[in-house]
Amino acid sequence: MRIVRGKPQVQDNKQPVPVSREALAARYASVRRMSEALSRPLETDDFNLQAMPEVSPAKWHLAHTTWFFETFLLKEFQPGYKPVHAQYEYLFNSYYEQVGTPFPRAHRGLLSRPTVEEIFHYRAQIDEAMTSFLANADDEHWPEIATRTRLGCHHEEQHQELFLTDIKYNFAINPLKPAYRDDLPVAAAGASVSLAWSDHPGGVQQIGHHTTGFAFDNEGPRHRILLAPYALASRPVTNGEFLEFMRAGGYDRPEYWLADGWRAACERQWRAPLYWEKNGGGWKLFTLAGWRPLNTHEPVCHVSFYEADAYARWAGKRLPSEAEWEVAAQRQDVRGNLRETGYLHPTPALPGTAVQQLFGDTWEWTCSAYAPYSGYRPARGALGEYNGKFMINQLVLRGGSCVTPTGHIRASYRNFFYPVDRWQFSGIRLADDR
Ligand SMILES: [Fe+2]
Repeated sequence: MRIVRGKPQVQDNKQPVPVSREALAARYASVRRMSEALSRPLETDDFNLQAMPEVSPAKWHLAHTTWFFETFLLKEFQPGYKPVHAQYEYLFNSYYEQVGTPFPRAHRGLLSRPTVEEIFHYRAQIDEAMTSFLANADDEHWPEIATRTRLGCHHEEQHQELFLTDIKYNFAINPLKPAYRDDLPVAAAGASVSLAWSDHPGGVQQIGHHTTGFAFDNEGPRHRILLAPYALASRPVTNGEFLEFMRAGGYDRPEYWLADGWRAACERQWRAPLYWEKNGGGWKLFTLAGWRPLNTHEPVCHVSFYEADAYARWAGKRLPSEAEWEVAAQRQDVRGNLRETGYLHPTPALPGTAVQQLFGDTWEWTCSAYAPYSGYRPARGALGEYNGKFMINQLVLRGGSCVTPTGHIRASYRNFFYPVDRWQFSGIRLADDR
């Protein structure tokens, strides 16, 4: 089914988008160049890897983000636009059923054609078309064009994060354990930082997106919630603390686990977080820079919700709700070990008792089901499929990670994954009742 030109309006909280054509074109170019920069460390043979259905080949990420601009902007708003290739709409559609049946996700890695070179050529063709399109778009459609272009830029940033997350998994299954980059800086080793607790009085609070800046539709509407008094841990759980859980038989004792989690741990033979491997008497981690010895002071990363929940129960605590997390995060500047710090790996906490590392390092599992906020309505049309239809059987993660682009994360940002997923940079922050 074809999309009707210009009909569905993207729900974008707090309209309008006060942005000039020049500013948006510069933002577009900057995001697009960043995707290509992230591709530079890869060899041609790396681009098509898909080690499990949940990850996508690097080549597919580069093509799909391009398809997004072609499908939702050029095809809809550029008079007389001719698609680059008749089949690309099928190959590079991710999940937009209203656009057409997508190519099966699990088979993306089987697409040796179009070649890597052809994908980069596709990107260049769309960039040229978009540059001209943004410069000449008519005033009548400009608000919707600006809204969608801005969405497309944030969409591409999401895929930049997935690009790094997925290449880590794709490389990890190779016994040669190739490094994405062997020149990544290593953070200071850090030291043991005592866990402190930040008390919150609870009461009637507000969460949800509330500024004129960009937000995805699932971050709104802003609304009131009632919280009981609670406490939030000052920093995430570390590798050293998670090792204590393991040494206490954490993976052997069902009393710490939810039923689904215990079944998953048994079936999948989990004995440690993803990417951990025994190294003599200790452990080593596979990172985007290859193997590194385990640093006990770093936040633990690549755990499923089930492992995070089991750890919390073993520790006599619990995971925070997304509202508890957001109320605490609203008081902080968005700063942290995000992609631009360059580590592409979690770093140890700094000394002190103040709440830290809410943003960056690792996404933090919450105990909240990914569900619509009261009053949420997806946009009409295919773009309404962006977030809303996934609001079932997944859990919310907050705060971004060491591979999240700076400027892409905020207190209201809701990420969501299945409780069994571990290939994300996902970690643990504890909460408690007061
Ligand atoms: Fe996408």
